[in-house]
Amino acid sequence: MSVVDVFDAVAGSYDQSRRRLVPCFDAFYGTAVEVAAPPLRAALASGRTPEVLDLGAGTGLLSLLLAAAVPGVRVTLVDAAPAMLAVAADHLRARAVPHRTLRADLTDPLPAGRYDAVVSALAIHHLDDAGKRGLYRRVPAALAPGGVFVNAEQVAGPTPALDRRYHQVWLERIAALGADADEIAASLGRMAYDRPAPVAEQCRWLAEAGLVDVDCFFKEWRFAVFGGRRG
Ligand SMILES: C[S@@+](CC[C@H](N)C(=O)[O-])C[C@H]1O[C@@H](n2cnc3c(N)ncnc32)[C@H](O)[C@@H]1O
Repeated sequence: MSVVDVFDAVAGSYDQSRRRLVPCFDAFYGTAVEVAAPPLRAALASGRTPEVLDLGAGTGLLSLLLAAAVPGVRVTLVDAAPAMLAVAADHLRARAVPHRTLRADLTDPLPAGRYDAVVSALAIHHLDDAGKRGLYRRVPAALAPGGVFVNAEQVAGPTPALDRRYHQVWLERIAALGADADEIAASLGRMAYDRPAPVAEQCRWLAEAGLVDVDCFFKEWRFAVFGGRRG
């Protein structure tokens, strides 16, 4: 089974478990929205429709939060899992958010366009490090001048001991939030496909790709929000 099959298989129930499995859900996604919002608002102020590209969009969680925070955005959602994208399209249609969904791999060329924000949540860690760096190198050309890239991501600990601690804390927190044994087992099964990298390394790769003002804007154990902007 590929990672895409794994997500397609849970597309119908994916949304229900998010707040249990991402213990810092509000701060995590909320920070990503805060980082992405300024160029979207600037586009609106200049009379233009702000364009967002959501990489590994899944059921559209981050796109929906962005569209709620900045009404008027148009969203392009990329994912390799068609059932996840179908759920996203239903949600976006129900909220009348202009959008298109594209079934593509994150290692493919990015869809043509100049985006005010390229965003991603909990998806790029499925690529190996060469794949992550290759994707980061393609991001600046996809951004409009002043556009931002933000990745709300599961990251590796900077040392094996810290990575083990991240995992232990996550298990304790999701149990406290009510995740049951089946939900934890299913989540651990999906995590077998994870290839997270430490946040400091990923910020360096973004700077090497040509982004400026690269920073980690939020971090709570395994969950980090980092990115930069096109100068
Ligand atoms: C954990 S979900 C995250 C979905 C959404 N961004 C969110 O925050 O809930 C990971 C998503 O990444 C997609 N994905 C994983 N590897 C991919 C790849 N190589 N190319 C395209 N999509 C991929 C999966 O299909 C899945 O929808």
